[in-house]
Parts: sequence; C-alpha cells; structure tokens
Amino acid sequence: TDFQTILLERDGRTATITLNRPKALNALNSEVMAEVVAAAEELDQDPGVGAIIITGSEKAFAAGADIKEMADKTFAQVYGENLFGAWERLTRVRTPLIAAVAGYALGGGCELAMLCDLIIAADTAKFGQPEITLGVIPGMGGSQRLTRAVGKAKAMDLVLTGRQMGADEAERSGLVARVVPAEGLLAAAKEVADKIASMSLPIAMMAKDAVNAAFETTLAEGVRLERRSFHAAFATDDQKEGMAAFVEKRPANFSGS
Ligand code: HXC
Repeated sequence: TDFQTILLERDGRTATITLNRPKALNALNSEVMAEVVAAAEELDQDPGVGAIIITGSEKAFAAGADIKEMADKTFAQVYGENLFGAWERLTRVRTPLIAAVAGYALGGGCELAMLCDLIIAADTAKFGQPEITLGVIPGMGGSQRLTRAVGKAKAMDLVLTGRQMGADEAERSGLVARVVPAEGLLAAAKEVADKIASMSLPIAMMAKDAVNAAFETTLAEGVRLERRSFHAAFATDDQKEGMAAFVEKRPANFSGS
C-alpha cells in the first residue's frame, strides 16, 4: 500500500511504522490516523511480522492531534464522525506494538504511545496531556490509560495542568518501560522488538492478551483467563519446542505453530 504520512519498513520479523509529517511535528490528522491504523492492521495479518515499532522523529514522536484540522469543527461534526474513534482499532492489533518515543509525545501523541503495548523512551522524550490548555480534554484514551499507568495523583496533575513530564519522571511513574540515550533509541527499540519477534507469535499474543486483561477485568477473572491460556499453550508445537530446547541446553527455534 502507498502511504503519504508514514514510512513503513520491514527488517526480519520486525516492522517499523514511522510517522512522517516533520513540518507539523507529526501532528495526527485524519490521514495519519487512517494510515497508521491501516498499516498496523495489514502487518497484523502477516505471521511473518512478530513485532511492530511505532516511532516519530528526533524532535517529536507526535505533538498531538492536528489542532488546525479540528479547530473549527462543530459538536455535530466531531460526534457524527466519532472523531479519533478509529484509533481504538489499534487495541485490536494482536501483534506486539512498541512505541519508540523521542521528543514531544503530547496529547494524542502521548495517547498513541499508550495505545502501544510498551513504551521505550529517549532521554529527550516529553510526555503530556495539554488538551486542557486548548479548552478540551484528552480524547484518545488519555484520561483512562494515563491513570491506569501512573495512578490518579500524577494523572490529575498532568491532565489538569497540561504540564510536560520528562523521560525520567515518566519511567519513575511507570509510564515507560525503559529510557535510553536519544541516539540509541531506534537500536534499542529494534533490539526489544527483535527479541519479542523471536518468540512464538501465538504465545506472544496470548501473553499480551493476558496482561491486557489486568486492565479490563477482576483479579479472579484475569487469573482464570491466564490459567486457561497457559493450559492452551500446551496445545502448541512451540511449547514442546521451547521446553525441549531448555532440556537439551540449546536455543529454541519457534515456528509459530
Ligand atoms: C497542528 C501543530 C501541532 C498540532 C505543532 N504543530 N503541533 N500543528 N497540530 N498539535 C505545528 C505548528 O503549528 C508549527 O507549524 C510546526 O508544527 C512546528 O511547531 P512549533 O510550535 O513552531 O514548534 P516549537 O516552538 O518547537 O514547539 C513545539 C511544541 C508546540 C511545544 C510541541 O508545537 C506545541 O505546543 N504544539 C501543540 C501541542 C498540543 O497542544 N498538543 C495537543 C493537541 S490536542 P507552522 O506552520 O506554524 O510552522 C490533542 C487532542 C487529543 O492531541 C484528542 C482529544 C481532543
């Protein structure tokens, strides 16, 4: 497929989606939304892809939803088109999604990062939900996902003041998995993605599904889902391979079956 606002690369079992609207600091307009979602869904259909990285530029992962595009819309328009609703489709992508964030991840940019399964941040990353300064509130899940990630105190602080949070604070608060020097961001994200992609894809999907259940259900239901999935793993060739490889003291070679 031919994309205008993103770049798509494949290297081994890892695919990278790079937001590419540098003049607008990767502001997320409707075209970017359509293309990121379409690309992720297309990659999700390919069992040759074991992990997907979403990244931006050195200066900005994404400086938010495109303010110029939405500034003059009416309630009837945003409600009628369900503005930003399509981003939720990323939550149905089963292949692990890794956000590699350098520079600004503000508003919809922070929310896009949080739609991914894990965030790797450059030391230059700045996260924030500045919507309140524009007279709106987060609209792509920020009030919910940020609160689950960092807790009420810090989520309220960020959402009510609109202030930015640096990479170290983001790591301390549990928003990001790792912080790395900016010049090594893509290499670090690639290393994590390649590691994940070297595992059994169906098992990685199960693992991701189980962790995500922790945000959607009770502890008892979540543990039940986990145990059933754990049992189901024994129906795969990859469980046999993984355990045989351990016993035989050799690296496992997963087939995805
Ligand atoms: C449209 C944007 C943009 C955005 C930056 N640009 N952010 N265009 N939407 N979100 C454009 C600028 O207009 C400018 O275009 C160019 O990108 C470079 O930006 P500058 O402001 O000149 O850069 P700088 O001075 O370095 O400041 C960087 C910045 C600032 C601090 C990130 O751009 C900024 O505050 N941006 C808005 C951040 C924000 O409020 N995001 C939340 C959006 S609301 P020109 O043509 O002038 O060169 C949101 C809602 C989510 O995300 C869903 C709920 C409704």
